[in-house]
Amino acid sequence: MTPTSAQLENIATLCDRRWDYHYTRTKLASDPVYQSVVREIGQSELPVLDIGCGIGLLSQYLRACGHAAPITGFDYDERKIGSAAAMAIKSGQAGLAFSAGDARTGLPDFSGNVVILDILQFFTPAEQDQLLSAAAARVSPGGKLVIRTGLRDASWRFKVTVLGDYFAKITFWMKAAPICYPDADQMRRILSQAGLRVEITPLWGGTPFNNHLIVAQR
Ligand SMILES: C[S@@+](CC[C@H](N)C(=O)[O-])C[C@H]1O[C@@H](n2cnc3c(N)ncnc32)[C@H](O)[C@@H]1O
Repeated sequence: MTPTSAQLENIATLCDRRWDYHYTRTKLASDPVYQSVVREIGQSELPVLDIGCGIGLLSQYLRACGHAAPITGFDYDERKIGSAAAMAIKSGQAGLAFSAGDARTGLPDFSGNVVILDILQFFTPAEQDQLLSAAAARVSPGGKLVIRTGLRDASWRFKVTVLGDYFAKITFWMKAAPICYPDADQMRRILSQAGLRVEITPLWGGTPFNNHLIVAQR
């Protein structure tokens, strides 16, 4: 299911801050990642752990698509977690929970579908491996780990991706500048070692970024 533009506007109006409102409208209308996640786990009844959830846009988008399983959002930016929780209350949607924590030092106990959108570039390669293994360990039988990340390669898209992340840092949208982007071999190696079947496909949409969707299934 695809949300109507009125549903997307309703999600944006949950935001208390003007910046968040405009960001949400633009992001939900233009970024293909949310629809990709719906395609992968939208029909699943397993709970969802969204690592690096930001202001919880994925949770609201999933609900707009009829997804009803519990969703836990996890992010180290307490301001964003506060906004995500306030938006959840305002929306009246049940089963949405948010908690603040640093994914480099541990993840909540969990079993189900796991989502990681656009955060791996903030980790060192060793931290990425550790996060991927910890996330994979939380995927239950029949569940999926769905990741969107820019992949490191020789393309012009990769260079634009790095510039975009530096822009997010200087505009203060992100607390951190990018550290390192994973490459496709690393994703395949770590996730297959964790017993998952891995598929990697480009997810460029209308953007100039080198984004890929990685779906790893148990
Ligand atoms: C580009 S945003 C993506 C937000 C969200 N996943 C989405 O797609 O709407 C990256 C998010 O990762 C979070 N993040 C970065 N490093 C983190 C860490 N070590 N632990 C938890 N969250 C982190 C940031 O605070 C930010 O909200």
